[in-house]
Amino acid sequence: MNTLISVDNLQKNYGDATALRGISFNVEVSELTVIIGPSGCGKSTLLRCLNGLELFDSGRVMIGDITLELNNGATQRDLNTQLRHLREEVGMVFQSFNLFPHLTALENATLAPVVVKKVDRKTAEARARELLAKVGLGDRLDYYPSQLSGGQQQRAAIARALAMSPKVMLYDEPTSALDPGLVGEVLSIMRRLDDEGMTQVVVTHEMHFARDVADKVLVLADGELIESGSPDVIFTSPRDERTRTFLQRYL
Ligand SMILES: Nc1ncnc2c1ncn2[C@@H]1O[C@H](COP(=O)(O)OP(=O)(O)O)[C@@H](O)[C@H]1O
Ligand SMILES: [Mg+2]
Repeated sequence: MNTLISVDNLQKNYGDATALRGISFNVEVSELTVIIGPSGCGKSTLLRCLNGLELFDSGRVMIGDITLELNNGATQRDLNTQLRHLREEVGMVFQSFNLFPHLTALENATLAPVVVKKVDRKTAEARARELLAKVGLGDRLDYYPSQLSGGQQQRAAIARALAMSPKVMLYDEPTSALDPGLVGEVLSIMRRLDDEGMTQVVVTHEMHFARDVADKVLVLADGELIESGSPDVIFTSPRDERTRTFLQRYL
């Protein structure tokens, strides 16, 4: 096994409220990890801590050779450097697509490598074309987000994230805002990336996808990781009563 992500005793508070109560897990290279759990249990907070959108209160996050650790005496400057590296190596896809509305699909997928990584525009654009073709949008390069369906927007958002050549892709309910008929086209992109060996962490309620594709399922409840294991184990013989209750609603 070759560990890419290591999360150790991660705690996150919002004021007096505790959102994550000491979460620990690993993600191996090329694994697809699915995170499930009821609304408000901390799934989004966890992903946001993994890509540096949210600072946590204690614990440690390691991704590749980047370590984020709070309360270890790291200066703000060290921390900012690590956060910047982290954001370059972690691709994130949100429920609400989050494309730049005033940029075409091609421009959306070209911008970050040019601005953040100083890739020359021609090279970045060629790569963006390639990635958009890969997600089935080769004929939609010059379309603005408002001219694309939800499924197309989400696929463009995936291409945009891939353009930064991240080590890992994180998805926060990537199909929850889509019409049912458009869900499959987004799931199939994640399947394909899995086949190609991309490391992915996916928060989703698509249990069939989880059962078919996940290497590992993490179950969160009330800010805790209550169990984890292969989809076989989680979906057929969960240990925790809360997992059973949750799954009954989705299976
Ligand atoms: N920015 C925030 N400020 C205060 N509380 C928050 C914030 N974001 C999330 N929370 C709280 O943290 C808990 C976990 O939320 P979240 O991570 O969004 O859960 P999930 O994604 O599983 O629905 C919830 O109780 C939520 O109300
Ligand atoms: Mg959420």
